[in-house]
Formats: sequence, C-alpha cells, structure tokens
Amino acid sequence: MKLGVCWYPEQWPETLWASDVQRMAALGLRFVRIGEFAWSRIEPEPGRFDWGWLDRAVDLAHAAGLQVVMGTPTATPPKWLVDAHPEILARGRDGQLRGFGSRRHYCFSSDVYLEQAKRISALMAARYGQHPAVVAWQTDNEYGCHDTVVSTSDAAKAGFRRWLAQRHGDVATLNAAWGLAFWSQDYRSFDAVDAPFGTVTESHPAHRLDWQRYSSAMVERFNAAQVAILRAESPGRDIVHNFMGLFTEFDHYAVGRQLDVATWDSYPIGFLGQGPFSAADKARYLRTGHPDLTAFHHSLYRACGQGRWWVIEQQPGPVNWAAWNPAPAKGAVELWGWEAVAHGAERMSWFRWRQAPTGQEAMHAGLNRPDNQPAAAWGEVAALAAGLAQLGPLPPRGRADAALIFDYESVWQVASQPQGRDQDALATAMAWHTAARRLGLGVDIVPPDADLAGYKLVLLPMQVVVDDGLAQRLAACGAHVLAGPRTGSKTRDFAIPACLPPDGLKALINITVARVESLPPGISLAAGNAGRVTGWMEDVEAGSGVDIRAGLDDGRGLWFQAGRCHYLAGQVDDGLLRRIIADAAAAAGLAVADLGPDVRVERRGDLRLLFNYGHTPVDLPVSPIIGVNPVPPAGVAIWKE
Ligand code: GAL
Repeated sequence: MKLGVCWYPEQWPETLWASDVQRMAALGLRFVRIGEFAWSRIEPEPGRFDWGWLDRAVDLAHAAGLQVVMGTPTATPPKWLVDAHPEILARGRDGQLRGFGSRRHYCFSSDVYLEQAKRISALMAARYGQHPAVVAWQTDNEYGCHDTVVSTSDAAKAGFRRWLAQRHGDVATLNAAWGLAFWSQDYRSFDAVDAPFGTVTESHPAHRLDWQRYSSAMVERFNAAQVAILRAESPGRDIVHNFMGLFTEFDHYAVGRQLDVATWDSYPIGFLGQGPFSAADKARYLRTGHPDLTAFHHSLYRACGQGRWWVIEQQPGPVNWAAWNPAPAKGAVELWGWEAVAHGAERMSWFRWRQAPTGQEAMHAGLNRPDNQPAAAWGEVAALAAGLAQLGPLPPRGRADAALIFDYESVWQVASQPQGRDQDALATAMAWHTAARRLGLGVDIVPPDADLAGYKLVLLPMQVVVDDGLAQRLAACGAHVLAGPRTGSKTRDFAIPACLPPDGLKALINITVARVESLPPGISLAAGNAGRVTGWMEDVEAGSGVDIRAGLDDGRGLWFQAGRCHYLAGQVDDGLLRRIIADAAAAAGLAVADLGPDVRVERRGDLRLLFNYGHTPVDLPVSPIIGVNPVPPAGVAIWKE
C-alpha cells in the first residue's frame, strides 16, 4: 500500500513547496493528490490560463520521487463562471438557489455546466495527461457532498421529464406504473410532471423514488463525461473518484463501474457522530471511531471498484465539519492505516498536508500545523510507513466467507415509504455487518447483481426488491441465506408484489408476509429468553416445510427456516441477531466466536490483524510481528498464521 497526502500548493507561498515535497518523501509518502479545487487559480479569467504554478508544483513533486493524483477542479466553479452562467447553479428541494461562496454549487442536470466541466477537464488532461508523475486522475470531488445530488433547477425538471419519457415510454404507462389513479394524480403528458417537493402532504412515493433514480443517473452522466475525456487524453492512468462515508444518494456501484478504482474519504471520528449508533457507543468510541464503520466502507468501496479501491482522504486529527470534533486517541491514526491495509487498499493518503490558517477548514488538522511544524499524527504516519516497509509485499486479501448484499435502491425505497420513522436500509446493513464481524466472520459487501458463487453465507439485511436474477443466484449458489424483514417487499415500480412479500425468496422458503407493523422508540416485543424486537414486526404465514425457530410471546413467529434459507420477521436486538447469524454460519461450516464489542480481526492471506477499539489492553495467544502483546487501547497487532 502506497502512502500519500492531499497537497494544496496554491494555498501557500511557493517558497514552501520544495521543502514540502522533500519532507513528504522523507516521511515515507509516495504520492500527492492535488488540483481538485484549483480552478480559479488555473483559469483566473475566462479563457486566460495560469498553468505555470501547477507545472512547477507537479515537477517539484516528480523531482522528489512523488507520484501525482490530479483532480479535475469541477467541484468549485469559479465566480466569473457563475456570474456569466447563473443557470448552472443548483436549487434545493425548497426551490432556493444554492449560491456561490462555498463549493458544489453546480447542478448535475445543467448542460451548460457539463460543457464547462468537460472543457476544463480536457484542458487539464491535455496539459498533464502524459506527465510522467501523473499516475491517476480524480474526477471532481465527493459527488453529492453537502446534499448536492438532488437539485430542483429548471434544468433538473426538464431533464427529469425527458428521463421519465425514456423510462416509461408513454404517459399512460407512467400513470399505471406509479398507480396514479390514487388521489386523481394522473398526468396527461410528461411535461406536466413536476419535482416531488412542496406538496401539501407527502408526495407520491414512486415519484420520489424515480426522482432519486433520475438524480443518480445525472451523477453518472456527469462522471462519464469526464472519464471519457481523461481516458482519451491520459491513457494508462487510473481514473478514480472520492466517495464519501454514510452517503447513499446516488448509485455508487454504477459510478464505480465507470472508474478504474473506487476511492473514499475516511473520517472515522467525524462520521461517528453522524452514524446510526447509540449514545453509549458514541461516547465509547469518541476517539477511535466505531469498530465497524470504517470496515463497512472499505468493503463497500472494494465492491464499487470491483476489487480495486483506495482511501484518498484519511483523517489525521480533529476535523472541522462535525457537530463536535474530538481528537483521535493516541494510536488511532496508525490503527486506521492498518485497517486499510487489512482490507486491501492499494493506496491511502491523508487529508491534508498542512492545516490552513484561513477559510472554512481552518480548524481542520493536517499532518503539519499551520506553523509548519509536525502535527500530532506525524509520528503515527511514520510508524505506519516503517511497519509497511518491514512487512514487505502483502498477500492478496481474497474472498470473505460471507457476502452482505447492500444496494442503493433499497435505501431509496425504504426512505420513499418508511412506514416507521427510523426505518433505514443503510443502518440495518451496518448493524448486520457489525453482528457478523463481531462473530469473527470475514464479510464482503456486494451489490445485488454480484456473483455469489463461493460464499458460504449470504446476508440480505433489507433487500427491498429481489429480482429474478438475484432470486436465481440465491437459489443456485448453495450458500446459507439469511434475509431480514422487508426483503422482497416491493416491485421495481414500487408496488406491493402480487404474491405478497418476500417476493423472490419463495422458492427457498414458503412463507407469506400478511401484515407489517412499525413500533415507536422505547417499545419492544419479547421473544421469550431469545431476545426482543424493536421498530418493525411482520405477521408471517408459514407454509409446509418451514420451521419456526423462535417466536414472540404473543404467538407470532419471528425466525423461520427452511433448509438453508432463514427469514427474520422482525428487527431483533443485537444479541439475538448475532445468535441467528452464528447459527446460520455454523450450519454453513464457518467457525464463529464472539469477539466482544471492541475487538475485530481481519485476515489478509496468512496475515492476521487485530484491532483494539476498546479502552483496555487485549492479550494475544501469539507474539505479533507488528505491535505489542498485550495490544493497548487503539492498538493493532499483526501476526502470521
Ligand atoms: C472531505 C472533502 C475535502 C475536505 C475534507 C475535510 O469531505 O473531500 O475537500 O473538505 O472533507 O475533512
């Protein structure tokens, strides 16, 4: 794994640059990511270019032996462009214009902006596409950050109407697909369809779902346009985009398929406060981040990159953008680095080289303080670099035992018609992932169209649509299958399936979901000594050949099994979820053991990596080659099996 850093030479006096790149190389860094916000310094006026500074920065990096990942600067259209073309600006769900003065103010649906983005990307690609230091291109920066996937600009509305016409063919088909006889919502032409916001009460859920699909397609269109230019002008270089954590507003698998490598921006402590965790866990993991959040995203982005993924931004200290911004525990920065190693990242770079004294991110830590002295993370970066050098070439990670199916459509579908305020397909997937990892299982997150061959256990925490392809692969793969509530509960047009849920699973387990209920916080239903149900419960009718493994005290079945397929009719507590996963895993021939809340173990070839997210030391049965025994809080140990 190559280490690097995000470098912003345009924000600093040029007199610092030479020592910057030399100190990077001396620290063990091998690459810089640059350029992704530099448009106003590259093209200070329309058509007038100042390439000199960027040429010199790239050449300096090259001379110091650093590779360059170059960003296209399209996340920050400059003021002159906005003034000349105000129609490129996005509008929020409330119709408000999203003005200049921060970033990501453009609308994905704007053809005018698309042309401008292509123009500046082509100029950059032409200038640096063949530079020997440039090994990769990053398109734009964090699509969707600051809630920018959905826009309600005129361009977006017009684009949506065209997209609807293409998808549904004629308006009668649209009326039928959405079921618009309900409340007299029929349309007479696609031109009459508006954005699904600002309605008296909730707008039609299928309308909102299609709006989200359209918005996602616009991100794909925007990215594809840059990818095509970069491929043509800079052949042989990897094309990447930096995805975010806890973010589901567009189909990352679809954008990932356009790229060579999926990268993501990992801020374990920043995300902790925003994640679906209890107050107790937020306190417990205040300075390390949650034990499974980073691993979840590593695995997800490995799937998005079809095996190839990097961490392109890594938290080095307190960030500026969370509600509160605690500092990492001693050791946590190194721990996060090893976690990326464990999951098979090809590269990892810290955000950012030096803390900026001005601007929105002046309170965000870097590897250096604003006075250019090493910041607290420096020593841990050096330790990671030394450890990697000591280990030498790393074995491939290989396929995990269990696959967890996660898709973006399911998140949108549940959000379009939650039926219970806290229903959330991402949070559910994360809870299942945590349960499986705590049992010591290796978990690959995979899309619903993934090849499932070779997995012993397949988890479907909340797969709302189970299409024919997935149904066939589940039947054919031979794995033990565990599906959670709401699986197979809608068609792709967002209707309740005619056969009733779980549509797509019925060949594996002969059950019918006859009724569902959601439950407010604080209410739980007892399932004897087995555990409790909160949030969601289904009344399931079981046909022949189905065992009821656990039930509620009120008589309803909860855990159903037929052969190698299990169905869970309610949202169960963590302990019961672990018990059920352990049961299915053991039946599939997998070894499981409860590691407790704080310790996680990953396998990479013959390497075993143990991470201690807790507050007490952990004893090892072996002497590690990296780390010490016992493993201290926020510590890592690595050994060979
Ligand atoms: C990321 C973003 C960076 C920077 C960073 C701060 O979301 O890509 O540009 O803002 O957060 O943590």
